[in-house]
Amino acid sequence: MREKLGGWKRSSYCGEVGSAQIGSQVTLMGWVQKRRDHGGLIFIDLRDREGIVQVVFNPEKGAGTHEKAHSLRSEFVIAVKGAIGKRPAGTENPELKTGAIEVYAEELKVLNDSAPLPFMIEEESDVAETTRLKYRYLDLRRLSLQRKIILRHKVSACVRNYLAQHGFLEIETPVLTKSTPEGARDFLVPSRLSPGQFFALPQSPQIFKQILMIAGFDRYYQIVRCFRDEDLRADRQPEFTQIDAEMSFVESDDVISVMEGLISAVFKEGVGIELQPPFPRLTYAEATSRFGVDNPDTRFGLELKDLSSIVAKSGFKVFADVLAKGGVVKAICAKGAAEFSRKDLDDLTEVAVSFGAKGLAWVKLTDEGWQSPIAKFLSDEEKAGIEKTLGAVKGDLLLFAAGKLSTANTVLGRLRLNLGARLRLVPAGTFNFTWVTEFPMFDYDEAEKRHVAVHHPFTAPMDEDIDLIDTAPLKVRAKAYDLVLNGVEIGGGSIRIHTSDVQSLVFDMLGISREDAELRFGFLLEALKYGTPPHGGIAFGLDRIMAIMTASDSIRDVIAFPKTQKATCPMSEAPSTVDMKQLEEIFIRIVKKQAEKE
Ligand code: AMO
Ligand code: AMP
Repeated sequence: MREKLGGWKRSSYCGEVGSAQIGSQVTLMGWVQKRRDHGGLIFIDLRDREGIVQVVFNPEKGAGTHEKAHSLRSEFVIAVKGAIGKRPAGTENPELKTGAIEVYAEELKVLNDSAPLPFMIEEESDVAETTRLKYRYLDLRRLSLQRKIILRHKVSACVRNYLAQHGFLEIETPVLTKSTPEGARDFLVPSRLSPGQFFALPQSPQIFKQILMIAGFDRYYQIVRCFRDEDLRADRQPEFTQIDAEMSFVESDDVISVMEGLISAVFKEGVGIELQPPFPRLTYAEATSRFGVDNPDTRFGLELKDLSSIVAKSGFKVFADVLAKGGVVKAICAKGAAEFSRKDLDDLTEVAVSFGAKGLAWVKLTDEGWQSPIAKFLSDEEKAGIEKTLGAVKGDLLLFAAGKLSTANTVLGRLRLNLGARLRLVPAGTFNFTWVTEFPMFDYDEAEKRHVAVHHPFTAPMDEDIDLIDTAPLKVRAKAYDLVLNGVEIGGGSIRIHTSDVQSLVFDMLGISREDAELRFGFLLEALKYGTPPHGGIAFGLDRIMAIMTASDSIRDVIAFPKTQKATCPMSEAPSTVDMKQLEEIFIRIVKKQAEKE
């Protein structure tokens, strides 16, 4: 039995009725979350996007309505007319926003039924994620997911508001475009009209937004989908959304201060938190030296300390050899962790080795003093110096990494995060923002035997370092900045190169030949010649911001239709095969599938 709306109009959302309306009539529409029969009375939890309300069907009220209510099953779609009443004392539900009231049904329409569900719509569920993604529309009916998607809408609206108020113009850039060097693999789209040629989906609108500055738009923004064919993790999706912005006639501080205003507006709107800009800043050198990584989680201490000078003349061969080769010895002190078991230490060693450590020397400070495989190699003076530098006391566990500076930092940085979680050092519900600035311009790619851009090749070098480009490229710092929130990079940007000569110099350094540069970015190099204003910008990862704001484990929770770890969509079954005819039209022939090759 499916009834028509027949002119019924909804008077409010289920989740929005409350004590203020006691005694008034309402018309509600939504889904049956649950039906309970109790001594003649039938109770329905009726749900819509704003919440759940209890509807009571009394056999004495509304002829036939009670019988109809008896036929309701989970996820039937219904419309109910009735009066709001106060729940009898003792039956209130404090867990529910509408828990003080209930609706006494007088009329009921069953607008649609539902097939038996593959899984129940409930918060705590052990249903496999691929099943939930296959029936994403059912999974999305969970109120927690609805809240997240609705909050995302609020945040986007707030972003648009703030940026419009600050003179930014929303301008769209192409999705069918050319490869831009953001460092990931491109998604390619074959062209039918240009046989054998391909569009690339944008990894970001980087080049177009710079060209908009050259065109004179001065302040641009876009909430824009970006595509990167990279290996996926909890905070990475093949298509994700950036809040992308660019400004003319600015330096780093100008971009940073406008964006601090934006992030503050968003957190006020989203979670009601008043942030206090300016946010703390760390240079890249300081961040990596103190926290081991360039995206430091500053919600807890456990900082890295350099012990190289203390153990410079050490009798411990591992340390001495590393220092002789120009390496470092660094350590962290885990408070109260001297009780760690052999197994804990083995786990930590495994983490250290997986990030490149040759070993993990440890020291437990116990009642008997130093308990450690390396105690016998160190003098009392060295031990005292180490304890002092680390602020170590009885009960603490010290962990050492000896090696190249970058390796020691990475290893201890990762151990620090591992220990932060193990020792529960991370306070819940805090939002710690840190700008990381003065990134190196270049990195050396050992596998490819060439320099690569740390941010992207359009990033300007710091003025005082320009002369080092030829002589000491790895020492050149860039006018680049990342915004890190609770240890996650939520945004990154830079001041750009705005002259074609410096741009060419940087392409040279990156081993991008003139011809190659011409082929790939010729249009930008050409545009740079015609009166380019100094400019810079930033892009934030909207999905990552939403995931942190809603304390979600994965960005999949804040995306209506995310992809799996294997970049597939179980609901639409994309990607999929296509007709031979479609392939012929775009001049593509499948030679061998990957599986056949292997
Ligand atoms: P970048 O590559 O640092 O900079 O990207 C900006 C921000 O986008 C987010 N992000 C991602 N989020 C989810 N899934 C992904 N696969 C993914 N990749 C990146 C991150 C990151 O900080 N054009 C430059 C910006 C600029 O210079 O203005 C750019 O794209 O939060
Ligand atoms: P070994 O003398 O090689 O047995 O090492 C003694 C201790 O030093 C062991 O606990 C190793 O795990 C540790 N160790 C070895 N190499 C390093 C290194 N590069 N950094 C820190 N500890 C190390």
